Amino acid sequence: MEELSKKPVFSADEIQNRIKELGAIISADYADKPLVVVCVLKGAFMFFSDLVKEISIMPEVDFVRVASYGSGNESSRTISFTKDIELSVKDKHVILVDDIVDSGYTMAFLLRQFEARGAASIRISALVDKEERRETPITVDYPGFTLPSGFIVGYGLDYSERYRNLRAVHELHFA
Ligand code: PRP
Repeated sequence: MEELSKKPVFSADEIQNRIKELGAIISADYADKPLVVVCVLKGAFMFFSDLVKEISIMPEVDFVRVASYGSGNESSRTISFTKDIELSVKDKHVILVDDIVDSGYTMAFLLRQFEARGAASIRISALVDKEERRETPITVDYPGFTLPSGFIVGYGLDYSERYRNLRAVHELHFA
């Protein structure tokens, strides 16, 4: 497969430094609380694994994967679990960890699901918050970085399932 040109957006050091800050904030916010940190596969796998290493309390961890069909507004989109968590979140505090929040529909779906299961609270962390692209009101409580535009890959994020292994986030150029 031909290699596309790419330019660095967030370096490996920038990412790790920001994750250290987020880990310290999360550790303070949940000091005495039962916490479940949930990774939204696949894109969040690297961010999640580095973030939980910077959390000094001892949270439970679990994983979900969702599939999204259709496009356009929320009513024309179907989102469902292809892998659900195995832990109970009843009366526990939850942080959902994703690589990107874009339109917000994935997180809107997950918030509804976890609310229905009786989580004590639910917050969102995302490596990249593309808040200008939001189509439904979702707030990222613990953002790594905000970015207005650009097709980004690396550090978990893919283009056709490739580039996930890179240590930094790059913008991909298709021209
Ligand atoms: C991406 C990303 C989020 C979702 C964000 O997942 O990881 O889960 O899309 O988009 P939204 O805010 O518009 O709902 P993708 O479907 O690319 O799967 P992947 O994580 O396995 O790469």
